[in-house]
Amino acid sequence: MRHLINTADFTIDEIKEIFANAAHYKAGDISLSLQNRLIITIFFENSTRTRSSFEVAAKRLGAEVVSLDVSKSSSSKGETLFDTAANLDAMNPDAIIVRHQDAGVPKILSNYVHCPIVNGGDGAHGHPTQALLDLFTIMENFPDPEGKKIAIVGDIKNSRVANSNIELLSRFGLDITLVAPPHFMPRISAYRKTHYIQEVIDDVDIIMSLRTQTERHTNQIYASLKDYASDFCISKTLVGDRDIMIMHPGPVNRNIDIDDALLADPRSKILEQVKNGVFVRMAVLENLICR
Ligand code: CP
Repeated sequence: MRHLINTADFTIDEIKEIFANAAHYKAGDISLSLQNRLIITIFFENSTRTRSSFEVAAKRLGAEVVSLDVSKSSSSKGETLFDTAANLDAMNPDAIIVRHQDAGVPKILSNYVHCPIVNGGDGAHGHPTQALLDLFTIMENFPDPEGKKIAIVGDIKNSRVANSNIELLSRFGLDITLVAPPHFMPRISAYRKTHYIQEVIDDVDIIMSLRTQTERHTNQIYASLKDYASDFCISKTLVGDRDIMIMHPGPVNRNIDIDDALLADPRSKILEQVKNGVFVRMAVLENLICR
């Protein structure tokens, strides 16, 4: 039984095969390989992209999808998370996609079910399919990403997207610089770090901006997000005419993370990331369910 909890659950060869399949799907070469399969989504945290992307991906491959509305589930009557998972598992799904505000929940649930668990984001720990779709999008622009320089900018310490991308992108040879204020900088030491985006702007091929994860802050760090933005917003003025690929996992805080002018610029690949997410998740589901 395979689960996808971390990006490290897939080898480089498996990821290349997933990307090849995703590229076929993107080219329109789609078969109903998940017909008669059932996929359940349980999102204990809000989502615009990930949940809908998984559901679209499953349906494009012919699967049935059931989405548990957590606010109307028996969690509110005292049912434990584990009993919820065991009861859904008793309906014999082919995969369960889970998002939870607490790190580690998808991993723990994988011990209670008989089908693949896919981590749709757990606390500040991991968001493996986001990192996979990010790398797929990078490789559309840089087919050989080894040595390409990427600045990951923002609330890195509280970001599951950053965690998953750091593991995955470093395995594919990207040269990562972490750009954040002291409070948002993780303690990991293996990467170049700076508090000033201006120090790396002339030297990067890609900027991945991150949202400030205010829901994970135990106390207010900035007087206002505008104060943060004055140092860390990626603006069209900052980027100038440099040939830099601009990424963001969403949701974007406009003019805090990236300014309106740069979001509208063709160097911004944010909606391409969302589009690619469906194809990458199709390939991930097929890999986990059909292999
Ligand atoms: N990128 C991402 O996880 O977005 P959602 O929170 O909308 O799913």
